Amino acid sequence: MKAALTRQEVGKHNSEEDLWCIVDHRVYDLSDFLDAHPGGNVVLQQVAGQDATTAFYNLHRHEVLQKYASLCVGTLENETPEVIDQQPGDLSQVPYAEPLWLTPAYSSPYYTDKHRALRKALRTFVDEHVTPEAQEKEKDGTFISQELIDKMAKENVLAMRLGPGEHLKGRDLLSGTMKGEDFDAFADLIASQELARTGSRGFQDGNMAGMTISLTAVQHWLQNEPLKRKLTEEVLAGKKKMCLAITEAFAGSDVQGLRTTAELSEDGKTWTVNGTKKWITNGMFSDYFVTGCKTKKGLTVLLIPRGEGVETKLIKTAYSTAAATTYIQFENVKVPADHLMGEVDKGMITIM
Ligand SMILES: Cc1cc2nc3c(=O)[nH]c(=O)nc-3n(C[C@H](O)[C@H](O)[C@H](O)COP(=O)(O)OP(=O)(O)OC[C@H]3O[C@@H](n4cnc5c(N)ncnc54)[C@H](O)[C@@H]3O)c2cc1C
Ligand code: HEM
Repeated sequence: MKAALTRQEVGKHNSEEDLWCIVDHRVYDLSDFLDAHPGGNVVLQQVAGQDATTAFYNLHRHEVLQKYASLCVGTLENETPEVIDQQPGDLSQVPYAEPLWLTPAYSSPYYTDKHRALRKALRTFVDEHVTPEAQEKEKDGTFISQELIDKMAKENVLAMRLGPGEHLKGRDLLSGTMKGEDFDAFADLIASQELARTGSRGFQDGNMAGMTISLTAVQHWLQNEPLKRKLTEEVLAGKKKMCLAITEAFAGSDVQGLRTTAELSEDGKTWTVNGTKKWITNGMFSDYFVTGCKTKKGLTVLLIPRGEGVETKLIKTAYSTAAATTYIQFENVKVPADHLMGEVDKGMITIM
């Protein structure tokens, strides 16, 4: 229980060694924080013993106070804090900050109680586990941690990223909040909206965007059923990572212009791949590359496992390197023939 203090009492703590101030009716002891304050000690000395609410909110987000809650020594007697302390999972009280269906004044025939429960559970998960890491990684440019991937796998958040479908059958989403079978297009919208709330564009792509666009292609086009099942299990369990490798320095919109080649051995058992790929999201940490290649009479898409001859280099783009945007070189990379996705020379259909 924090002490109930008076403004007179706070006023006495007005020196460098003993410095208190008031923010939103709460009292903070900043004596030991002076040297650690990112804005310096001088500005804090200028408000020693005073109500610094206006000065504080002019410069900081409210979350700063939540982070430094341990500095709070009490609340002013007969006064109540006014700023809402947002808790994990809470809806924003800011007008128009939420989609309309989450606004009390509106009702929607499309979103059910199950959708609302999913929204709440997913936002709590994102607030507690994803956003803190996203903020950190967006800034320092390093890649998503295996720890977070494991948490998302456990709660089947990774599986939700592929949208509704067979892969969700029998899966409990977010500790039983929703059954995989009930995950429909509206649930998919919720998942996209909630996961985007980290406010970190690079990290958001770094958070398995490569998987979302490549595992869906595997589901659809890989004919080798046992490999498809194994890969799907491993990727949705967070044990393996994958990405989609189509674009090259030579060809972006003009997919037909790809120059990475794939040649099938005479015995028909092995492809040999040579070439490069550019702008490949998540490539740095991927174990599999769904790759568009040029073959004799068209394009052919192959699932290439990381191995001998596969080299990946990080590209610094306009957003954070947390996205793991990659330049890839394939040099005489051997790929088993049954890693074919779709049909030989008809890869344009697979890609599109
Ligand atoms: C951050 C980032 C991540 C990416 N991640 C991946 C990934 O994971 N996997 C992957 O394969 N690729 C990825 N890409 C590549 C992306 O798919 C390409 O950038 C895209 O296909 C466009 O190709 P380009 O950049 O070569 O542009 P270009 O094709 O050179 O286009 C340049 C400009 O010309 C215009 N243009 C092109 N052709 C025409 C036309 N016929 N008519 C009119 N206008 C035209 C375009 O609109 C554009 O404004 C990524 C790119 C970025 C920036
Ligand atoms: C409980 C009290 C306070 C805490 C915990 C605190 C914490 C912080 C933190 C974490 C930052 C880094 C920026 C951010 O994350 O927003 C910061 C920056 C800053 N703070 Fe504080 N602060 C406090 C009070 C104050 C007060 C009362 C003032 C002014 C009178 C002040 C002035 C500044 C300034 C000038 C900056 C730099 C802003 C910039 O770079 O533009 N702080 N503070």
